[in-house]
Amino acid sequence: MCKKPYYITTPIYYPSANLHIGNTYTTVAADALARFKRLTGYDVMFLTGTDEHGQKIQRIAEEKGVTPKEYVDEIVAGIKSLWEIMDISYDKFIRTTDDYHIKAVQDIFKKLYDQGDIYKDSYEGWYCTPCESFWTETQLVDGKCPDCGRPVEKAKEEAYFFKMSKYADRLIKHIEDHPEFIQPESRKNEMLNNFLRPGLQDLCVSRTSFNWGIPVTFDNEHVIYVWIDALSNYITALGYGNEDTSLYERFWPADVHLIGKDILRFHTIYWPIMLMALEVPLPKQVFGHGWLLVDGGKMSKSKGNVVDPVALVNSFGVDPVRYYLLKEIPFGSDGLFNNEIFIKKINSDLANDLGNLLSRTITMIEKYFDSVIPAPTAKEDIDNELINLALATPVKVQAAIDDLKIPEALEAIWDLIGRANKYIDETTPWILAKDESKKERLGTVLYNLVESLRFASVMISAFLPTTSSKINEQINSEVTTWNSLSAFDGTSAGTKVNKGAVIFPRIDVEAKLSELEALRQEQLKATEKKEMKPIKEEITIEDFEKIDLRVAKVIGCEPVKGAKKLLKLKVDLGGEERQVVSGIAQYYKPEELVGKSIVLVANLKPVKLRGELSQGMILAAATDDDGKLFVVDPGNLETGSVVR
Ligand code: MSP
Repeated sequence: MCKKPYYITTPIYYPSANLHIGNTYTTVAADALARFKRLTGYDVMFLTGTDEHGQKIQRIAEEKGVTPKEYVDEIVAGIKSLWEIMDISYDKFIRTTDDYHIKAVQDIFKKLYDQGDIYKDSYEGWYCTPCESFWTETQLVDGKCPDCGRPVEKAKEEAYFFKMSKYADRLIKHIEDHPEFIQPESRKNEMLNNFLRPGLQDLCVSRTSFNWGIPVTFDNEHVIYVWIDALSNYITALGYGNEDTSLYERFWPADVHLIGKDILRFHTIYWPIMLMALEVPLPKQVFGHGWLLVDGGKMSKSKGNVVDPVALVNSFGVDPVRYYLLKEIPFGSDGLFNNEIFIKKINSDLANDLGNLLSRTITMIEKYFDSVIPAPTAKEDIDNELINLALATPVKVQAAIDDLKIPEALEAIWDLIGRANKYIDETTPWILAKDESKKERLGTVLYNLVESLRFASVMISAFLPTTSSKINEQINSEVTTWNSLSAFDGTSAGTKVNKGAVIFPRIDVEAKLSELEALRQEQLKATEKKEMKPIKEEITIEDFEKIDLRVAKVIGCEPVKGAKKLLKLKVDLGGEERQVVSGIAQYYKPEELVGKSIVLVANLKPVKLRGELSQGMILAAATDDDGKLFVVDPGNLETGSVVR
């Protein structure tokens, strides 16, 4: 039978985004859906990738002294390894620096220009000269550059624009006619009422102020500005605009673009309009999930509350992290990541419910049946409740996933796990084991438990793949297809179980919390250290040459009366003596300086400090917090030498 195609995408990530648990969330959710669709018989294309162009990347690369491509190559390798750690089963990874993507985007831009949807005009905004960035009024923070905090000024640059308004009515109609197009429902109204109905502004789609982007083929001053480049990935990855379009023909339109709510506008307004202009069918659905918050709100580096998924996986394993993200965050709304709730959930749902069910079942089979799974030969009515629930659960799970309700799907599976645990308490196998005449009944109970575990394992394989494999190994099951869940008989009696390690050891909550806090403090310190002070506004060599720096020798030094921080130095410039007042008393005793060579800003306008004349300034290197200071040492250069 020919499988039905299913195409799911995540956003393509900015390499500068410094991936945290929030970004990881989108991809873990997409992975669960992709795995589930594969499990239930679809031919899946699961796309993810990286969005590598833009001014920010260019600037970071310049600061690091590497090319933008070298910079992104390194980060992309890190992102791919994160996805490996998180067990992400993507089918294709697109990079917007891939040749086929660049070519297709250039053709798309040209086509839109040729047909009159893109036109040239000028872009006016707030410009930050040191950052070379344009900002809109709303992006400014207190009227200043949101990146560096310096003043901005109104500026204009030539740019291409996309005529968004031309397609607005068609898009409104599409959204109204296809209630499933924007999900969850509340986000649909936000898009219609806040953006579409009040009228769309044309979108600026090129820039001339930086060049790390896809060049406009017919106007080489311009690079294509992010969204046309980024959004097109969903079709270029399938070969659109290139020779082999077989994947495009098979998988487009996408079944779902899974994204965070912050980029919903781009996906539900700009993207469909671009597609309409290209005469390409629209994706079937765009699902905007909520934010993953931490205590204290949004994650941010400066608050030191960014949760690093790799540290979590190292500490707890991958499936607890996946479980928490998928089960505890209501899919579609904001959710909280909290260490304590996370650890308690591992203990209750994974260690207690699932882990215990497995270890109790295997231990009893080992003890009472020499590790061989017995046949279910002595059924009783009480079994039906468990069996019926097992048979009903896959149907519930599938319905929940069809509605993109991932937490509900997991809840249904955990209901079955809970029911199986209750079944142990009801049937009391340890009492049955005491009576030889109840051996067959005991065997039936244990068979039902193994089969329930098999059901759970097949169903969780989409969400917790590693755990599912571990369960299969211990119950020694190779019957792992979704279809095998239509009957409660997939386990083969006579098979030997393999008792293995406890799949989720219980965690000491207090001890682990303090360990995590220590780790957080360490990371905070590390990032603080790495945070570089912004470089001041650029100057020319001519500006610099105005400063006259000279090697001078300290020939006398004493404190300035009544000023704890100041020293008064007498310095010899090689032919001229001067008095200089310097705020270095906390770091040097007068006698340590006498006889030392220093570097003096010799043409600084003299000032009086605490009534003392200061004819110049001594160069020193210091930490921001007044912790350390060192007077710059010119070595044994002759007094009076010029420093350039
Ligand atoms: N490059 C664009 C997407 C282009 S798609 C054609 C981008 N990249 S991103 O790296 O900044 O974000 C990637 C995804 O992470 C987005 O879906 C964003 O919503 C999501 N998240 C970023 N922080 C998040 C949370 N704190 N919580 C949940 N999702 C978060 O945007």
